Amino acid sequence: MQNLEQKFDSQPYDREQWGKGYQSLPQEYEYWIDEIEGEIPQNLEGTLFRNGPGLLEVHGIPLQHPFDGDGMISAVSFKDGRAHFRNRFVKTKAYLAEQEAGKMLYRGVFGTQKPGGWLNNAFDFELKNIANTNIIYWGDRLLALWEAAEPYRLDPQTLETIGIDYLDGVLEPGDSFSAHPWIDPNCKMDGGEPCLVNFSIKVGLSSTITIYEFNPQGKLLRRHAHTVPGFSFIHDFAITPNYCIFFQNPVSFNPIPFVLGFRGAGECVKYQPDRPTKVIIIPRNNTVDKEVKILETNSGFVFHHVNAREISENEICIDSVAYEYLPQVKPDTDYKKSDFEASAPGQLWQFTANLKNGSARSQLINARACEFPVINPNQVGRDYRYLFVGAAHNSTGNAPLQAILKFDRHSLTEEQFWSFAPYGYVSEPIFVPKPDGNSEDDGWILALVYDGSRHCSKVAILDGKNLNNGPIAQLYLKHHIPYGLHGSWTDKYFISLEEGQ
Ligand code: CO
Repeated sequence: MQNLEQKFDSQPYDREQWGKGYQSLPQEYEYWIDEIEGEIPQNLEGTLFRNGPGLLEVHGIPLQHPFDGDGMISAVSFKDGRAHFRNRFVKTKAYLAEQEAGKMLYRGVFGTQKPGGWLNNAFDFELKNIANTNIIYWGDRLLALWEAAEPYRLDPQTLETIGIDYLDGVLEPGDSFSAHPWIDPNCKMDGGEPCLVNFSIKVGLSSTITIYEFNPQGKLLRRHAHTVPGFSFIHDFAITPNYCIFFQNPVSFNPIPFVLGFRGAGECVKYQPDRPTKVIIIPRNNTVDKEVKILETNSGFVFHHVNAREISENEICIDSVAYEYLPQVKPDTDYKKSDFEASAPGQLWQFTANLKNGSARSQLINARACEFPVINPNQVGRDYRYLFVGAAHNSTGNAPLQAILKFDRHSLTEEQFWSFAPYGYVSEPIFVPKPDGNSEDDGWILALVYDGSRHCSKVAILDGKNLNNGPIAQLYLKHHIPYGLHGSWTDKYFISLEEGQ
Protein backbone atom coordinates (compact mmCIF):
# COMPACT_ATOMS: atom_id res chain seq x y z
CA MET A 1 0.00 0.00 0.00
CA GLN A 2 1.32 3.37 -0.97
CA ASN A 3 -0.15 6.60 0.19
CA LEU A 4 -0.13 10.18 -0.93
CA GLU A 5 2.40 11.22 1.68
CA GLN A 6 5.37 9.09 0.62
CA LYS A 7 8.33 11.43 0.39
CA PHE A 8 11.82 11.21 -0.96
CA ASP A 9 14.81 12.93 0.61
CA SER A 10 15.18 15.19 -2.40
CA GLN A 11 13.02 15.63 -5.48
CA PRO A 12 11.31 12.38 -6.57
CA TYR A 13 12.97 12.28 -10.00
CA ASP A 14 16.34 12.76 -11.61
CA ARG A 15 16.19 15.23 -14.47
CA GLU A 16 19.01 13.64 -16.43
CA GLN A 17 17.44 10.20 -16.08
CA TRP A 18 14.06 11.58 -17.12
CA GLY A 19 15.67 13.07 -20.27
CA LYS A 20 16.86 9.62 -21.40
CA GLY A 21 13.24 8.67 -22.01
CA TYR A 22 13.54 10.87 -25.10
CA GLN A 23 16.17 8.71 -26.82
CA SER A 24 15.13 7.44 -30.24
CA LEU A 25 14.09 3.83 -30.78
CA PRO A 26 15.02 3.16 -34.43
CA GLN A 27 14.59 -0.64 -34.11
CA GLU A 28 11.35 -2.50 -34.82
CA TYR A 29 10.57 -5.50 -32.60
CA GLU A 30 8.03 -8.27 -32.20
CA TYR A 31 8.03 -10.84 -29.41
CA TRP A 32 5.98 -12.46 -26.67
CA ILE A 33 6.63 -10.63 -23.41
CA ASP A 34 8.18 -13.14 -21.01
CA GLU A 35 9.43 -11.03 -18.12
CA ILE A 36 6.29 -10.48 -16.09
CA GLU A 37 5.87 -9.51 -12.45
CA GLY A 38 2.43 -10.50 -11.14
CA GLU A 39 -0.21 -12.01 -13.39
CA ILE A 40 -1.98 -10.74 -16.50
CA PRO A 41 -5.76 -11.08 -15.92
CA GLN A 42 -7.05 -14.08 -17.92
CA ASN A 43 -10.08 -12.14 -19.14
CA LEU A 44 -8.09 -9.15 -20.41
CA GLU A 45 -8.43 -9.68 -24.16
CA GLY A 46 -7.72 -7.15 -26.90
CA THR A 47 -5.06 -4.73 -28.08
CA LEU A 48 -3.48 -1.63 -26.59
CA PHE A 49 -2.27 0.67 -29.37
CA ARG A 50 0.08 3.56 -28.59
CA ASN A 51 1.50 6.30 -30.79
CA GLY A 52 4.31 8.79 -30.24
CA PRO A 53 7.58 10.08 -31.68
CA GLY A 54 9.95 7.16 -32.23
CA LEU A 55 12.81 9.17 -33.71
CA LEU A 56 14.02 12.26 -31.87
CA GLU A 57 16.61 13.07 -34.52
CA VAL A 58 16.83 12.63 -38.27
CA HIS A 59 20.17 11.26 -39.47
CA GLY A 60 22.02 12.82 -36.57
CA ILE A 61 20.22 16.18 -36.55
CA PRO A 62 18.38 16.45 -33.20
CA LEU A 63 14.80 17.68 -33.24
CA GLN A 64 14.08 20.98 -31.54
CA HIS A 65 10.75 19.65 -30.21
CA PRO A 66 9.71 16.03 -29.51
CA PHE A 67 6.32 16.65 -31.16
CA ASP A 68 8.22 16.82 -34.49
CA GLY A 69 9.31 13.15 -34.23
CA ASP A 70 8.21 10.48 -36.73
CA GLY A 71 5.24 8.47 -35.46
CA MET A 72 5.94 4.99 -34.11
CA ILE A 73 3.15 2.60 -33.19
CA SER A 74 3.38 0.08 -30.37
CA ALA A 75 0.80 -2.71 -30.09
CA VAL A 76 0.48 -4.85 -26.97
CA SER A 77 -1.93 -7.73 -27.59
CA PHE A 78 -3.49 -9.57 -24.64
CA LYS A 79 -5.17 -12.99 -24.57
CA ASP A 80 -5.32 -15.97 -22.19
CA GLY A 81 -2.98 -14.32 -19.70
CA ARG A 82 -0.26 -13.68 -22.30
CA ALA A 83 0.94 -10.54 -24.04
CA HIS A 84 2.66 -9.91 -27.38
CA PHE A 85 4.60 -6.74 -28.27
CA ARG A 86 5.20 -5.20 -31.68
CA ASN A 87 6.36 -1.74 -32.79
CA ARG A 88 6.52 -0.25 -36.27
CA PHE A 89 7.17 3.21 -37.63
CA VAL A 90 4.36 4.73 -39.66
CA LYS A 91 5.96 4.58 -43.09
CA THR A 92 4.80 8.00 -44.15
CA LYS A 93 5.90 9.52 -47.42
CA ALA A 94 8.25 11.85 -45.51
CA TYR A 95 9.72 9.09 -43.31
CA LEU A 96 10.51 6.96 -46.38
CA ALA A 97 11.95 9.94 -48.29
CA GLU A 98 14.28 10.86 -45.40
CA GLN A 99 15.37 7.25 -44.89
CA GLU A 100 16.21 6.99 -48.57
CA ALA A 101 17.93 10.38 -48.82
CA GLY A 102 19.99 9.76 -45.67
CA LYS A 103 19.41 13.34 -44.56
CA MET A 104 16.79 15.65 -43.09
CA LEU A 105 14.47 16.95 -45.82
CA TYR A 106 11.68 18.67 -43.87
CA ARG A 107 11.20 21.37 -41.26
CA GLY A 108 9.09 20.41 -38.26
CA VAL A 109 5.96 22.32 -37.29
CA PHE A 110 7.09 22.75 -33.66
CA GLY A 111 10.50 24.32 -34.30
CA THR A 112 12.83 21.79 -35.91
CA GLN A 113 14.76 23.43 -38.74
CA LYS A 114 16.69 21.80 -41.54
CA PRO A 115 20.45 22.29 -41.28
CA GLY A 116 21.91 25.18 -43.24
CA GLY A 117 20.40 28.08 -41.33
CA TRP A 118 17.50 30.30 -42.25
CA LEU A 119 18.48 30.41 -45.93
CA ASN A 120 17.78 26.71 -46.22
CA ASN A 121 14.42 27.01 -44.43
CA ALA A 122 12.93 30.28 -45.72
CA PHE A 123 9.77 29.90 -47.81
CA ASP A 124 9.71 26.12 -47.28
CA PHE A 125 6.08 25.44 -46.40
CA GLU A 126 6.04 21.75 -47.18
CA LEU A 127 4.27 20.03 -44.29
CA LYS A 128 5.76 16.81 -42.94
CA ASN A 129 2.84 14.54 -42.01
CA ILE A 130 4.43 12.59 -39.15
CA ALA A 131 1.29 10.68 -38.04
CA ASN A 132 2.57 10.64 -34.45
CA THR A 133 -0.21 11.73 -32.09
CA ASN A 134 -2.90 9.08 -31.68
CA ILE A 135 -4.03 5.74 -33.06
CA ILE A 136 -7.59 4.45 -33.21
CA TYR A 137 -9.36 1.35 -34.45
CA TRP A 138 -12.77 2.23 -35.90
CA GLY A 139 -14.85 0.84 -38.78
CA ASP A 140 -12.33 -1.99 -39.26
CA ARG A 141 -9.55 0.52 -39.90
CA LEU A 142 -6.47 1.19 -37.82
CA LEU A 143 -5.65 4.89 -38.26
CA ALA A 144 -2.60 6.85 -37.09
CA LEU A 145 -3.62 10.46 -36.52
CA TRP A 146 -1.81 13.80 -36.65
CA GLU A 147 -3.95 16.89 -36.43
CA ALA A 148 -2.54 18.88 -39.34
CA ALA A 149 -2.94 16.26 -42.10
CA GLU A 150 -4.74 13.15 -43.27
CA PRO A 151 -4.75 9.87 -41.29
CA TYR A 152 -2.44 6.99 -42.23
CA ARG A 153 -3.97 3.51 -42.29
CA LEU A 154 -2.07 0.49 -40.95
CA ASP A 155 -2.66 -3.26 -40.95
CA PRO A 156 -3.80 -4.03 -37.37
CA GLN A 157 -2.14 -7.45 -37.38
CA THR A 158 1.30 -6.51 -38.72
CA LEU A 159 1.32 -2.70 -38.21
CA GLU A 160 2.57 -2.36 -41.78
CA THR A 161 1.58 0.99 -43.29
CA ILE A 162 -1.10 0.79 -45.98
CA GLY A 163 -1.09 4.52 -46.83
CA ILE A 164 -3.03 7.74 -46.43
CA ASP A 165 -6.71 7.03 -45.82
CA TYR A 166 -9.29 9.50 -47.13
CA LEU A 167 -12.14 7.76 -45.24
CA ASP A 168 -14.00 6.75 -48.41
CA GLY A 169 -13.77 10.22 -49.91
CA VAL A 170 -14.82 12.14 -46.80
CA LEU A 171 -11.40 13.80 -46.80
CA GLU A 172 -9.54 15.28 -49.74
CA PRO A 173 -5.79 15.61 -50.25
CA GLY A 174 -4.54 18.42 -48.01
CA ASP A 175 -7.37 18.07 -45.49
CA SER A 176 -6.67 17.62 -41.80
CA PHE A 177 -8.29 15.32 -39.24
CA SER A 178 -7.81 15.90 -35.51
CA ALA A 179 -5.93 13.42 -33.34
CA HIS A 180 -8.65 13.58 -30.64
CA PRO A 181 -11.82 11.82 -31.78
CA TRP A 182 -14.40 10.81 -29.16
CA ILE A 183 -16.73 7.83 -29.24
CA ASP A 184 -20.27 8.70 -28.18
CA PRO A 185 -21.20 5.38 -26.55
CA ASN A 186 -24.93 5.84 -27.02
CA CYS A 187 -25.83 8.33 -29.74
CA LYS A 188 -29.45 9.44 -29.45
CA MET A 189 -29.53 10.52 -33.12
CA ASP A 190 -28.65 6.95 -34.17
CA GLY A 191 -31.02 4.95 -31.97
CA GLY A 192 -28.42 4.39 -29.27
CA GLU A 193 -25.67 3.10 -31.57
CA PRO A 194 -22.16 4.33 -30.80
CA CYS A 195 -20.61 6.84 -33.20
CA LEU A 196 -17.19 8.41 -33.66
CA VAL A 197 -17.09 12.21 -33.51
CA ASN A 198 -14.08 14.14 -34.76
CA PHE A 199 -13.19 17.53 -36.23
CA SER A 200 -10.77 19.29 -38.51
CA ILE A 201 -9.69 22.88 -38.39
CA LYS A 202 -8.46 25.32 -41.02
CA VAL A 203 -6.86 28.40 -39.54
CA GLY A 204 -6.06 31.85 -40.79
CA LEU A 205 -7.47 35.21 -39.73
CA SER A 206 -10.62 33.23 -38.98
CA SER A 207 -10.95 29.52 -38.19
CA THR A 208 -13.20 26.97 -39.86
CA ILE A 209 -14.14 23.98 -37.73
CA THR A 210 -15.66 20.97 -39.54
CA ILE A 211 -17.36 18.28 -37.48
CA TYR A 212 -17.60 14.67 -38.71
CA GLU A 213 -19.59 11.78 -37.22
CA PHE A 214 -19.15 8.16 -38.37
CA ASN A 215 -21.13 5.00 -37.65
CA PRO A 216 -19.45 1.81 -36.34
CA GLN A 217 -18.84 0.65 -39.94
CA GLY A 218 -16.93 3.88 -40.66
CA LYS A 219 -19.65 5.43 -42.84
CA LEU A 220 -20.15 9.20 -42.59
CA LEU A 221 -23.37 10.11 -40.72
CA ARG A 222 -23.09 13.88 -40.33
CA ARG A 223 -20.76 16.65 -41.44
CA HIS A 224 -21.04 20.40 -40.97
CA ALA A 225 -18.61 23.33 -41.00
CA HIS A 226 -18.58 26.58 -39.02
CA THR A 227 -16.37 29.64 -39.26
CA VAL A 228 -15.48 31.55 -36.11
CA PRO A 229 -13.44 34.76 -35.78
CA GLY A 230 -9.73 34.69 -35.00
CA PHE A 231 -6.75 32.37 -35.23
CA SER A 232 -7.11 29.10 -33.31
CA PHE A 233 -4.79 26.61 -31.69
CA ILE A 234 -7.27 23.83 -30.87
CA HIS A 235 -5.86 20.38 -30.15
CA ASP A 236 -8.80 18.63 -28.48
CA PHE A 237 -12.52 19.12 -27.94
CA ALA A 238 -15.32 17.64 -25.84
CA ILE A 239 -18.74 16.23 -26.65
CA THR A 240 -22.12 15.78 -24.99
CA PRO A 241 -25.21 14.14 -26.54
CA ASN A 242 -26.17 17.51 -28.08
CA TYR A 243 -22.98 19.58 -28.45
CA CYS A 244 -19.34 19.74 -29.49
CA ILE A 245 -17.33 22.11 -27.31
CA PHE A 246 -14.04 23.78 -28.34
CA PHE A 247 -11.74 26.01 -26.30
CA GLN A 248 -10.19 28.73 -28.45
CA ASN A 249 -7.09 29.49 -26.42
CA PRO A 250 -5.93 33.12 -26.32
CA VAL A 251 -2.97 33.04 -28.70
CA SER A 252 -1.79 35.05 -31.67
CA PHE A 253 0.26 33.90 -34.64
CA ASN A 254 2.95 35.94 -36.34
CA PRO A 255 4.06 33.92 -39.39
CA ILE A 256 6.97 36.16 -40.45
CA PRO A 257 9.83 34.40 -38.56
CA PHE A 258 8.50 31.09 -39.92
CA VAL A 259 8.23 32.37 -43.49
CA LEU A 260 11.76 33.77 -43.35
CA GLY A 261 13.15 30.53 -42.01
CA PHE A 262 14.21 31.70 -38.54
CA ARG A 263 11.63 29.81 -36.50
CA GLY A 264 9.25 26.87 -36.66
CA ALA A 265 5.55 27.64 -37.04
CA GLY A 266 4.83 26.46 -33.47
CA GLU A 267 7.37 28.95 -32.15
CA CYS A 268 5.44 31.81 -33.76
CA VAL A 269 2.38 31.18 -31.61
CA LYS A 270 2.27 33.67 -28.76
CA TYR A 271 0.15 33.35 -25.65
CA GLN A 272 -2.00 36.44 -24.94
CA PRO A 273 -2.69 36.54 -21.18
CA ASP A 274 -4.85 39.65 -21.42
CA ARG A 275 -7.37 38.01 -23.71
CA PRO A 276 -10.11 35.59 -22.64
CA THR A 277 -10.42 31.96 -23.64
CA LYS A 278 -13.41 31.51 -25.94
CA VAL A 279 -15.70 28.54 -25.43
CA ILE A 280 -17.23 27.60 -28.80
CA ILE A 281 -20.36 25.46 -28.54
CA ILE A 282 -21.64 23.83 -31.73
CA PRO A 283 -24.85 21.76 -31.85
CA ARG A 284 -24.23 18.22 -33.12
CA ASN A 285 -27.60 17.92 -34.80
CA ASN A 286 -27.13 20.59 -37.42
CA THR A 287 -30.52 19.93 -39.04
CA VAL A 288 -32.48 21.12 -35.99
CA ASP A 289 -30.10 23.63 -34.35
CA LYS A 290 -27.58 25.66 -36.33
CA GLU A 291 -26.76 28.31 -33.74
CA VAL A 292 -23.11 28.39 -32.67
CA LYS A 293 -22.56 30.05 -29.29
CA ILE A 294 -19.28 31.68 -28.27
CA LEU A 295 -18.76 32.35 -24.55
CA GLU A 296 -15.79 33.86 -22.75
CA THR A 297 -13.98 32.60 -19.70
CA ASN A 298 -10.76 33.31 -17.79
CA SER A 299 -7.52 33.05 -19.67
CA GLY A 300 -5.42 29.90 -19.57
CA PHE A 301 -4.33 27.23 -22.02
CA VAL A 302 -5.98 23.85 -22.55
CA PHE A 303 -4.60 20.96 -24.58
CA HIS A 304 -6.88 18.21 -23.25
CA HIS A 305 -10.38 17.92 -21.94
CA VAL A 306 -11.45 15.19 -19.51
CA ASN A 307 -15.14 15.10 -20.34
CA ALA A 308 -18.23 17.30 -20.71
CA ARG A 309 -21.82 16.85 -19.65
CA GLU A 310 -25.11 18.72 -19.85
CA ILE A 311 -26.16 19.52 -16.28
CA SER A 312 -29.41 21.26 -17.24
CA GLU A 313 -31.12 22.36 -20.43
CA ASN A 314 -28.94 25.46 -20.56
CA GLU A 315 -25.77 24.48 -18.74
CA ILE A 316 -22.77 22.46 -19.84
CA CYS A 317 -19.97 21.48 -17.51
CA ILE A 318 -16.53 20.81 -19.02
CA ASP A 319 -13.60 19.35 -17.09
CA SER A 320 -10.15 20.03 -18.51
CA VAL A 321 -6.44 20.10 -17.79
CA ALA A 322 -5.51 23.78 -17.97
CA TYR A 323 -2.22 25.68 -17.77
CA GLU A 324 -1.76 29.26 -16.63
CA TYR A 325 -0.14 29.90 -20.01
CA LEU A 326 0.94 27.98 -23.12
CA PRO A 327 3.92 25.76 -22.25
CA GLN A 328 6.48 26.15 -25.06
CA VAL A 329 10.01 24.96 -25.70
CA LYS A 330 12.03 28.17 -26.06
CA PRO A 331 14.13 28.46 -29.22
CA ASP A 332 17.77 27.41 -28.70
CA THR A 333 17.01 25.41 -25.54
CA ASP A 334 17.08 21.64 -25.03
CA TYR A 335 13.67 20.15 -24.19
CA LYS A 336 15.42 17.14 -22.62
CA LYS A 337 16.74 19.48 -19.92
CA SER A 338 13.33 21.01 -19.24
CA ASP A 339 13.21 23.07 -16.05
CA PHE A 340 9.91 21.82 -14.68
CA GLU A 341 9.98 24.08 -11.67
CA ALA A 342 10.15 27.16 -13.89
CA SER A 343 6.96 26.43 -15.82
CA ALA A 344 3.28 26.25 -14.90
CA PRO A 345 1.76 22.82 -14.25
CA GLY A 346 -1.33 21.43 -15.96
CA GLN A 347 -4.11 21.24 -13.36
CA LEU A 348 -7.71 20.02 -13.23
CA TRP A 349 -10.25 22.76 -13.84
CA GLN A 350 -14.00 22.74 -14.20
CA PHE A 351 -15.77 25.15 -16.54
CA THR A 352 -19.51 25.79 -16.41
CA ALA A 353 -21.00 27.32 -19.54
CA ASN A 354 -24.45 28.86 -19.36
CA LEU A 355 -26.04 28.93 -22.81
CA LYS A 356 -28.84 31.21 -21.68
CA ASN A 357 -26.98 34.11 -20.10
CA GLY A 358 -23.69 33.56 -21.99
CA SER A 359 -21.49 33.27 -18.92
CA ALA A 360 -18.72 30.71 -18.39
CA ARG A 361 -17.30 30.21 -14.90
CA SER A 362 -14.03 28.46 -14.17
CA GLN A 363 -12.89 26.74 -10.99
CA LEU A 364 -9.67 24.95 -10.06
CA ILE A 365 -10.65 21.53 -8.72
CA ASN A 366 -7.23 19.99 -8.05
CA ALA A 367 -3.77 21.59 -7.87
CA ARG A 368 -1.49 18.58 -8.44
CA ALA A 369 0.40 18.73 -11.76
CA CYS A 370 -1.26 16.33 -14.20
CA GLU A 371 -1.81 15.60 -17.90
CA PHE A 372 -3.40 12.93 -20.14
CA PRO A 373 -6.79 12.45 -18.44
CA VAL A 374 -9.04 9.46 -19.19
CA ILE A 375 -12.44 8.15 -18.09
CA ASN A 376 -14.51 5.01 -18.48
CA PRO A 377 -15.48 5.18 -22.20
CA ASN A 378 -19.11 4.40 -21.34
CA GLN A 379 -19.38 7.79 -19.57
CA VAL A 380 -18.23 10.01 -22.45
CA GLY A 381 -20.47 13.11 -22.64
CA ARG A 382 -22.40 12.06 -19.56
CA ASP A 383 -22.33 12.46 -15.81
CA TYR A 384 -19.35 10.59 -14.45
CA ARG A 385 -17.60 10.17 -11.18
CA TYR A 386 -14.03 9.02 -11.76
CA LEU A 387 -11.18 10.27 -13.86
CA PHE A 388 -7.70 8.79 -14.12
CA VAL A 389 -4.76 10.97 -15.07
CA GLY A 390 -0.95 10.95 -15.28
CA ALA A 391 0.23 12.98 -12.28
CA ALA A 392 3.31 14.33 -10.51
CA HIS A 393 4.55 12.48 -7.43
CA ASN A 394 4.26 15.55 -5.20
CA SER A 395 0.96 17.35 -4.70
CA THR A 396 2.44 20.80 -5.39
CA GLY A 397 4.81 22.25 -7.98
CA ASN A 398 5.49 21.14 -11.52
CA ALA A 399 7.32 17.87 -12.24
CA PRO A 400 7.31 14.95 -14.71
CA LEU A 401 4.36 12.55 -14.66
CA GLN A 402 5.36 9.65 -12.41
CA ALA A 403 2.05 8.52 -10.96
CA ILE A 404 -1.54 7.66 -11.81
CA LEU A 405 -4.17 9.59 -9.91
CA LYS A 406 -7.80 8.55 -9.54
CA PHE A 407 -9.89 11.65 -8.87
CA ASP A 408 -13.45 11.58 -7.54
CA ARG A 409 -15.35 14.34 -9.29
CA HIS A 410 -18.37 14.02 -7.02
CA SER A 411 -16.46 14.75 -3.82
CA LEU A 412 -13.69 16.72 -5.62
CA THR A 413 -11.02 14.72 -3.80
CA GLU A 414 -8.04 12.62 -4.76
CA GLU A 415 -9.44 9.17 -4.20
CA GLN A 416 -6.51 6.89 -4.99
CA PHE A 417 -2.95 7.20 -6.22
CA TRP A 418 -0.05 5.05 -7.30
CA SER A 419 3.42 6.48 -7.90
CA PHE A 420 6.25 4.89 -9.87
CA ALA A 421 8.79 7.40 -8.47
CA PRO A 422 11.71 7.73 -8.26
CA TYR A 423 12.62 5.77 -11.45
CA GLY A 424 9.29 5.47 -13.26
CA TYR A 425 7.77 8.01 -15.69
CA VAL A 426 4.24 7.35 -16.87
CA SER A 427 2.43 7.89 -20.14
CA GLU A 428 -1.27 8.47 -20.71
CA PRO A 429 -3.30 5.87 -18.79
CA ILE A 430 -5.93 3.91 -20.75
CA PHE A 431 -9.12 2.66 -19.05
CA VAL A 432 -10.34 -0.79 -20.13
CA PRO A 433 -13.76 -1.73 -18.68
CA LYS A 434 -13.83 -5.30 -17.30
CA PRO A 435 -16.10 -7.60 -19.32
CA ASP A 436 -18.07 -8.42 -16.17
CA GLY A 437 -17.63 -5.01 -14.53
CA ASN A 438 -20.43 -3.68 -12.37
CA SER A 439 -19.35 -0.12 -11.56
CA GLU A 440 -17.82 2.86 -13.33
CA ASP A 441 -14.33 2.25 -11.93
CA ASP A 442 -14.45 -1.52 -12.45
CA GLY A 443 -11.76 -1.75 -15.10
CA TRP A 444 -8.05 -2.00 -15.72
CA ILE A 445 -5.70 0.91 -16.12
CA LEU A 446 -2.99 0.23 -18.69
CA ALA A 447 0.05 2.51 -18.82
CA LEU A 448 3.46 2.43 -20.45
CA VAL A 449 6.02 3.37 -17.83
CA TYR A 450 9.61 4.33 -18.67
CA ASP A 451 11.88 2.80 -16.03
CA GLY A 452 14.91 5.07 -15.83
CA SER A 453 16.87 2.65 -13.62
CA ARG A 454 16.94 0.05 -16.44
CA HIS A 455 16.48 2.38 -19.44
CA CYS A 456 13.57 0.10 -20.40
CA SER A 457 9.82 0.51 -20.53
CA LYS A 458 7.19 -1.66 -18.95
CA VAL A 459 3.44 -2.04 -19.34
CA ALA A 460 1.74 -1.64 -15.97
CA ILE A 461 -1.75 -3.04 -15.38
CA LEU A 462 -3.57 -1.54 -12.39
CA ASP A 463 -7.01 -2.17 -10.94
CA GLY A 464 -9.28 0.86 -11.37
CA LYS A 465 -11.08 0.09 -8.12
CA ASN A 466 -7.89 -0.46 -6.14
CA LEU A 467 -5.23 1.79 -7.57
CA ASN A 468 -3.60 2.08 -4.14
CA ASN A 469 -2.62 -1.58 -4.22
CA GLY A 470 -0.22 -0.92 -7.10
CA PRO A 471 0.11 -2.87 -10.34
CA ILE A 472 -1.54 -6.29 -10.70
CA ALA A 473 1.09 -7.00 -13.32
CA GLN A 474 4.17 -5.32 -14.79
CA LEU A 475 5.31 -6.51 -18.21
CA TYR A 476 8.94 -5.65 -18.86
CA LEU A 477 9.86 -4.85 -22.45
CA LYS A 478 13.31 -5.63 -23.84
CA HIS A 479 13.97 -1.94 -24.65
CA HIS A 480 12.59 1.50 -23.91
CA ILE A 481 9.77 3.28 -25.76
CA PRO A 482 10.34 7.04 -26.13
CA TYR A 483 7.73 9.10 -24.26
CA GLY A 484 4.56 8.83 -26.31
CA LEU A 485 1.43 10.85 -26.82
CA HIS A 486 -1.91 9.06 -27.11
CA GLY A 487 -3.30 5.59 -27.63
CA SER A 488 -6.44 3.51 -27.42
CA TRP A 489 -7.82 0.10 -26.62
CA THR A 490 -9.84 -2.26 -28.76
CA ASP A 491 -11.40 -5.56 -27.67
CA LYS A 492 -10.14 -7.05 -30.94
CA TYR A 493 -7.15 -9.37 -30.83
CA PHE A 494 -5.13 -9.59 -34.04
CA ILE A 495 -2.15 -11.84 -33.34
CA SER A 496 -2.26 -15.38 -34.70
CA LEU A 497 -1.05 -17.91 -32.14
CA GLU A 498 1.70 -19.35 -34.32
CA GLU A 499 3.30 -15.90 -34.56
CA GLY A 500 6.68 -15.58 -32.90
CA GLN A 501 6.02 -18.47 -30.48
CO1 CO B 1 -3.39 15.33 -27.28
